[in-house]
Amino acid sequence: METSQASRNGKPYLLPDKALKNLDEYIAIGGFQALKKAYSMPREGVIAEVKKSGLRGRGGAGFPVGIKWSSIASDSCATKYVACNATEGEPGTFKDRMLMRRNPYQVLEGVAIAAYAMNAKKAFIAMKHTFDEAIERTAQAHKEMTARNALGEIPIEFVYGPEDYLLGEEKAMLEVIEGREAMPREMDFPPYILGLFAGYPSCIPGHTNPTLVNNCESMSSVTHIIRNGADWFRSMGTADTPGHTIFTLSGDVQCEGLYELAMGTTMRELIEKSGGGLKPGRKLKAIFSGVASAGLYPEAIDTPLDFGSMRNAGSGLGSAGFMVYDDSNCMVQVAYVFSKFLWIESCGQCRSCKEGTQEATERLEKLINGTGNEIDVEAILQASTNAPRGNRCFLPTEHSLIIPSIVHTFQREFEAHYNRGCQNCRVPVLPKMHDYDEQKREFHYTHGRLTP
Ligand SMILES: Cc1cc2nc3c(=O)[nH]c(=O)nc-3n(C[C@H](O)[C@H](O)[C@H](O)COP(=O)(O)O)c2cc1C
Ligand code: SF4
Repeated sequence: METSQASRNGKPYLLPDKALKNLDEYIAIGGFQALKKAYSMPREGVIAEVKKSGLRGRGGAGFPVGIKWSSIASDSCATKYVACNATEGEPGTFKDRMLMRRNPYQVLEGVAIAAYAMNAKKAFIAMKHTFDEAIERTAQAHKEMTARNALGEIPIEFVYGPEDYLLGEEKAMLEVIEGREAMPREMDFPPYILGLFAGYPSCIPGHTNPTLVNNCESMSSVTHIIRNGADWFRSMGTADTPGHTIFTLSGDVQCEGLYELAMGTTMRELIEKSGGGLKPGRKLKAIFSGVASAGLYPEAIDTPLDFGSMRNAGSGLGSAGFMVYDDSNCMVQVAYVFSKFLWIESCGQCRSCKEGTQEATERLEKLINGTGNEIDVEAILQASTNAPRGNRCFLPTEHSLIIPSIVHTFQREFEAHYNRGCQNCRVPVLPKMHDYDEQKREFHYTHGRLTP
């Protein structure tokens, strides 16, 4: 199975070929050297090493991890928390669940290092309650590690949240950890400013409890950075985005799968070498890194996969989960599925978000059923562009990036649908993954909530 092929820049370190059976197996491959090393260093030394590594967050935005760490560490507020985002709700992404299935120890070790560096009171690991195997494996690893006093002094608690896409949005995740619904707090209160249990919205000044939120793969990468050093990490990947990542590749390729490779691997290499290429006789039409960025189209297939290059190509790396669409797809249908997903997952706290995503979805439906025309296309673009007005979170911005990108790129295809609709067009699945079949090398999808 192709889950951890060697990259051109070093051996895989995140994803072992097979799931580790127990703590002894982890210790045998160097487990706990990083936490021991961290405890022998001053907190500032640990933060400096992470900063020097150039690690960028693997949850989607690529924010430099060390900068976030030093900002929280320098905050004078006495109470701090750490929250590991292992909620993985981005369509087309399965890497965090695979990390937790194969080597949950490195995730826990990374969280313990972060908690030490932040001098945190407590750390949390948030997942969706449906992540059966990942939940079981991490809970078992936690039990083994605490039984041997291998996790340090700071307690780590698991929080199992709902299926909502918004659970992964950091301000909503804090709400869920505090026992409420997955509804993002206001834009002005990111977790590193106003964190957990600070009494939002009427927090007491000086008791803002800054909270470090980092993705599950970001935390795992920290373990390897502290163990092997920042220079080792920087020797892989690109200057813009050092290190490896686990790419999730799905859709119209021969071999769907999870591939640990160096950042900077090109999209062509990922599709052709790892994914075995497209289905016979098919041509590439579009690639989407989840639903949070504009698409990447065939002329940009040689783009190196790092944050900077993908942004320069007009798209985004996201959480490195790529959904491939060949020329058998109808892009009106694809836009409809993405738009509907974002509409349904919008929590409705901000009117323009809920209404804008709804209007775009309904007009896309008109184009599909043959009652739509150019007026609807104009309205889709306007609704999508206006959706982020006064937003509390990035969800409607995602809509405004991905939907106009599809409409503009496939303008002729949209025109062909005017007053005619889909003529036996292929209906795509919403690529929300819930499992990976290692034998068949294909993902299993859940359609999620399809009604508002
Ligand atoms: C709608 C939405 C969903 C998100 N889902 C996830 C997710 O499933 N996992 C994740 O790590 N980050 C997700 N994020 C990004 C987080 O808000 C946050 O930026 C990230 O966890 C920070 O970690 P990092 O800096 O290590 O990437 C999401 C953001 C938005 C707007
Ligand atoms: S922007 Fe949308 S998803 Fe985000 S909080 Fe507002 S309504 Fe909810």
